[in-house]
Amino acid sequence: MLELKNASIGYKGGVLAVQDVSFTVKEGEVVSLVGSNGAGKSTLLRAISGLLRPRAGEILFNGEPLHAVPPYDIVRKGIAMVPEGRQLFGRLPVIDNLRLGAYALSSKADAERSLAEVLGLFPRLAERKGQRAETLSGGEQQQLAIGRGLMSRPKLLMLDEPSLGIMPKLVSEIFRTIREISKKGLTVLLVEQNVFEALDISDRAYVLQTGKIVLDGQGKELLQSDMVRKAFLGM
Ligand SMILES: Nc1ncnc2c1ncn2[C@@H]1O[C@H](COP(=O)(O)OP(=O)(O)OP(=O)(O)O)[C@@H](O)[C@H]1O
Ligand SMILES: [Mg+2]
Repeated sequence: MLELKNASIGYKGGVLAVQDVSFTVKEGEVVSLVGSNGAGKSTLLRAISGLLRPRAGEILFNGEPLHAVPPYDIVRKGIAMVPEGRQLFGRLPVIDNLRLGAYALSSKADAERSLAEVLGLFPRLAERKGQRAETLSGGEQQQLAIGRGLMSRPKLLMLDEPSLGIMPKLVSEIFRTIREISKKGLTVLLVEQNVFEALDISDRAYVLQTGKIVLDGQGKELLQSDMVRKAFLGM
């Protein structure tokens, strides 16, 4: 479904943040990108969304190159991102934040159908439809950010550190939600620093270190790897 081939990505005036990275996400999979601060995880997601363009290499979605497609059309093609730090409109009510996620849909009927589905998936949001986003709890805000991502009816949902800043007690709830979404047929690309939980729910994962992939494998298999246990799990 998604394929990166030898992608190198950098920022204006900066060194390359991602170097010669290749990976795939197949339909129906949950794939994680894990790595420490500054490894290049968000950079990769920004490039797939079209917010940054690779300096070299290719990004293909269902075989089609994305490098010349504007971000808006990338959403239309079925890729949605839930950004790091959630990026909600705090003063706007929950329901308006959700509706903004449907901007790429062509019809109002589709948007209303999405809205009903998302509110069905997150009853807490349904109960708080009219509440300003900034007054939601951290966990509820993350649900809202995920819900907004789902509003465009994506085939591939990319999540950038969904568990960041969430009470430990609620973290497993977020991961359970991701698993649930994936069971409904959505493909998921997950970026996480919460390596244990991420690998535990992933079919496959890639470990990123200073812009390069250093290890990959099945999620459960990587949990047993010495490198992962030492670098991320403090063992
Ligand atoms: N807007 C920017 N301009 C210049 N350099 C940037 C920019 N954003 C990120 N970088 C650099 O790119 C590298 C990768 O950053 P990135 O945000 O992708 O890391 P990350 O793996 O998502 O880290 P974190 O876990 O802290 O979110 C870092 O060295 C960072 O300094
Ligand atoms: Mg990041």
